[in-house]
Amino acid sequence: PAVVAVLPAAGSGLRLGAGVPKAFVELAGVPMLVRAVDGLLASGVVDHAVVVVPGDQVAAADALLPGRPVTVVAGGADRTASVAAGLSAIGPDAEVVLVHDAARPLTPGPVVARVVEAVRAGAPAVVPVLPVPDTIKQVDDAGVVMSTVDRSALRAVQTPQGFRPADLRRAYAGTPDPRTDDAGLVEAIGDPVTTVPGDPLAFKVTTAWDLRIAQLLLAGAAA
Ligand code: CTP
Ligand code: MG
Repeated sequence: PAVVAVLPAAGSGLRLGAGVPKAFVELAGVPMLVRAVDGLLASGVVDHAVVVVPGDQVAAADALLPGRPVTVVAGGADRTASVAAGLSAIGPDAEVVLVHDAARPLTPGPVVARVVEAVRAGAPAVVPVLPVPDTIKQVDDAGVVMSTVDRSALRAVQTPQGFRPADLRRAYAGTPDPRTDDAGLVEAIGDPVTTVPGDPLAFKVTTAWDLRIAQLLLAGAAA
């Protein structure tokens, strides 16, 4: 398949504190993981998804995703290890690899399309970004402000992040340092990472507050 998406969904969701792995938490009756997969497939630009879940949840995840072009594999101890496990399940024919957090269940299709288009146009690594609206300050250990950062040059980074498969594999070769995003590993090997506009709806569900926002957005959409 030409465009393959890896969905890291093997986290435990400690900050959400739902008592079950975050990807399996339901939003208006549908697990986040299923929403994330279906959102990618509905974008029209993704051919196959590799879903990476906790080792004891592989059968459960398979059962949640009948009829989709999806492979489910077991993840690792941190996000980087989980993405690495997903990458090894990708066939040699992929032209574009996306890595997309299962915890971003409301990501709009056009964001996915922008990322894929930029990789197809020749970028080795592409991330969707938003400007940072708040004033940002650097503080010391005691919480005392040391400086105000120039936010005009800052961007908040979302997923899906898009890559040429060879470049992402190269970034993950060996034992990569754990990172919070995949483009960080590409940066570490010196490849350029470019940006496309993200979308507020691609926010990550991290805390109970985020889950509440997601529920309210879905309730509003149904009304
Ligand atoms: N993830 C993963 N494997 C891990 C850790 C995280 O696949 N070992 C995934 C999560 O399932 C999530 C994404 O990476 O889809 C982003 O991580 P995060 O929001 O931090 O999720 P969790 O690690 O589950 O949450 P927390 O850090 O609060 O425990
Ligand atoms: Mg985490």
